[in-house]
Amino acid sequence: MASGKGLEEVVAAQTAISDIDGKLGKLWYAGYSIDALAENSTFEEITHLLHNGRLPTQDELDDLTEQMVNDRETADFVSDLMPTLAEQTSPMSMLRTSVSAASAYDPDGWDQSPEANYRKAIRLISLIPTLIAYYDRHRNGLPIVEPNPKLPHAANFLSMLSGEEPSQEMAEAFDTTFILYADHTMNASTFTARVVASTLADMHSAVTAAISALKGPLHGGANELSMRMLQDIGDASRAREYVQDLFARKEKIMGFGHRVYRHVDDPRASILRRFSRELGEAAGDTRWYDISEAVVQIVLEEKGLRPNVDFYAGSVLYYLGLPIDLFTPMFAAARAAGWTAHIREQYADNRIIRPESEYIGPRDQRWLPIAERASAEAAGQEAAS
Ligand code: COA
Repeated sequence: MASGKGLEEVVAAQTAISDIDGKLGKLWYAGYSIDALAENSTFEEITHLLHNGRLPTQDELDDLTEQMVNDRETADFVSDLMPTLAEQTSPMSMLRTSVSAASAYDPDGWDQSPEANYRKAIRLISLIPTLIAYYDRHRNGLPIVEPNPKLPHAANFLSMLSGEEPSQEMAEAFDTTFILYADHTMNASTFTARVVASTLADMHSAVTAAISALKGPLHGGANELSMRMLQDIGDASRAREYVQDLFARKEKIMGFGHRVYRHVDDPRASILRRFSRELGEAAGDTRWYDISEAVVQIVLEEKGLRPNVDFYAGSVLYYLGLPIDLFTPMFAAARAAGWTAHIREQYADNRIIRPESEYIGPRDQRWLPIAERASAEAAGQEAAS
């Protein structure tokens, strides 16, 4: 077989959007290290960087910010769906359905020109937090909080969820979490988005498919499960017994391990680890951070596995007041910047993605009329026993 299971080490596309060095534990967006971007940039700047390959000038940033603020509103069609979705579906199912539904009222319709696709991309990135917040307010029977045009993207999301403007510290931590989640080379959901785009299906279809891939516990779902694990453990003193029990049952520890960062720390986890501690200290309750530290130490000792981005994102988002089942939708809101950049990159130099498979089933079978199949099957089983 030409490649490893799970397409390990297969290069599926050339990209100028992001790059990883799994041995050094480094991540770059368009050549800028994630540490420098997390320290100095905003999510709006990162959106420009991923889509245009360079950081914006002040005028460009002002234009993009204005566009993103204007694109936060939903079409009536999508808001009308929300009460039903809030009552009947999980947050990720709502997101998948409403992003798909949004295509019906996109002002650019089925226009697939590069200009229309750029506008669709910015519209989707801007809209997703509104969808999540509307959903959450509906399911809790609370009045909708309209987007606040004065607030940046991440802070506005928190304010639409809680109805309150976040503190500077919270807004910055959330904005940085958005930056860290914005792109990560050929992860499963980005690959999915590129496969769909490579058939020349539209932007909304590709993003809908990416959301579906992100939903699973081995990908985006891990941040929710890692926070639930911290809650189950409850106290750092119980961490060893809990983790050893999971290992004994051969269960996975969510938020640990990574296809690319095998023997070094995920650089995003290192940044979120600091936020987890700082937010815990600011809240006067470092319990979740303390349990996280105990789990990290034990998992490293016992299995040599390190935390990935989703492990510390769990406690950071919890400290920021997000309901746990909105952690994966938040990941989608941030990753929408990367997905849409990859979709546009795929369209710009497209060849349909169509790998091969290795056939391992039987060969040279003899076709039988349906009336003869049961007796032939029984005879085959008898011969085999
Ligand atoms: N808990 C326990 N064992 C784990 C583990 C985890 N979180 N992650 C990997 N391992 C083990 C595997 O079982 C395997 O053991 P084996 O060699 O005895 O079979 C070994 O470590 C190597 O891992 P592998 O299965 O090759 O990793 P992968 O590249 O196929 O999968 C992940 C990568 C991320 C899907 C995997 O580490 C995982 O399931 N992690 C938990 C989910 C998660 O946090 N996802 C978010 C990713 S950002």
